[in-house]
Amino acid sequence: MKLKILNLEKSQIYFKVFLTNEYQKICSFAAVMDSEKKVTPYKDSSLNKKEQVEKMFDTISGNYDGLNRVISFGTDIKWRKRVLAKIIKHKPASILDIATGTGDLAIKFAEKSKASKIIGLDISEGMLSVARKKIQNTDLENKVEFIKGDSEALSFNDNTFDAITVSFGIRNFETLEKGLSEIYRVLKPKGLFIILETSVPTKFPFKQGYYFHSKVLLPIIGKLFSKDKVAYTYLSESASIFPFGNKLNNILQKIGFINVDHKPQTFGVATIYTASK
Ligand SMILES: C[S@@+](CC[C@H](N)C(=O)[O-])C[C@H]1O[C@@H](n2cnc3c(N)ncnc32)[C@H](O)[C@@H]1O
Repeated sequence: MKLKILNLEKSQIYFKVFLTNEYQKICSFAAVMDSEKKVTPYKDSSLNKKEQVEKMFDTISGNYDGLNRVISFGTDIKWRKRVLAKIIKHKPASILDIATGTGDLAIKFAEKSKASKIIGLDISEGMLSVARKKIQNTDLENKVEFIKGDSEALSFNDNTFDAITVSFGIRNFETLEKGLSEIYRVLKPKGLFIILETSVPTKFPFKQGYYFHSKVLLPIIGKLFSKDKVAYTYLSESASIFPFGNKLNNILQKIGFINVDHKPQTFGVATIYTASK
């Protein structure tokens, strides 16, 4: 009798494990499907998403930093400081900041970390030239290098970097999984990968506030102050459909990353993800 009960409990456990595994597979699949929905800057353009994104950031590079501060009410500075603190704690000798844009994060790594090799990589020459100007004629010129490159076809050998970061970049990748696989490839085993990306608050009243900010305020600010009238509509649209939280965790795990974790920031308007290889 006791044996029968034990066997029954065992088969229930097996069944639960089976269901959990199947559920996780479905979640990963759903997250990948979501990530493949494409939002592009210019609806009528014949260029692919990557070319459109490059063109858009080239155009807005001149006032990107100023508008960024206004749009995030300065809170992005706090989030970047948290990323920096995690990087410093990891003590990397080499850091790659992907989609570095105007280079703020890479420059902070150069100022505050002991890394001997720091590279900021971006697809937009316009954004990179703003980054390069920031370090021109300073001793940081020897500590950080800004190079043009595509996150989905990185020109580095496998296992090159101790730490890799991407802030507000991954949602612009043409194929998210391709970009993340490349990051996985060039990260060293036990290396640290950090993503800082926008997310969508799920609780009242922050959800409603976020909706007003991204659907109403952001496009107006963009139209008034940006050189590219549609850029800020694209940025808010791409943020609203981008997988965040557990969905992105599932994608990272599917690529092979381990120790995947995420921490929502400021009511969930952004999230910091950490992972390892
Ligand atoms: C919103 S900006 C973020 C810039 C910066 N990391 C920051 O936190 O302000 C996104 C950046 O991603 C870059 N980007 C988009 N797709 C890319 C790709 N496939 N490879 C490299 N950079 C890319 C864009 O050129 C742009 O500079």
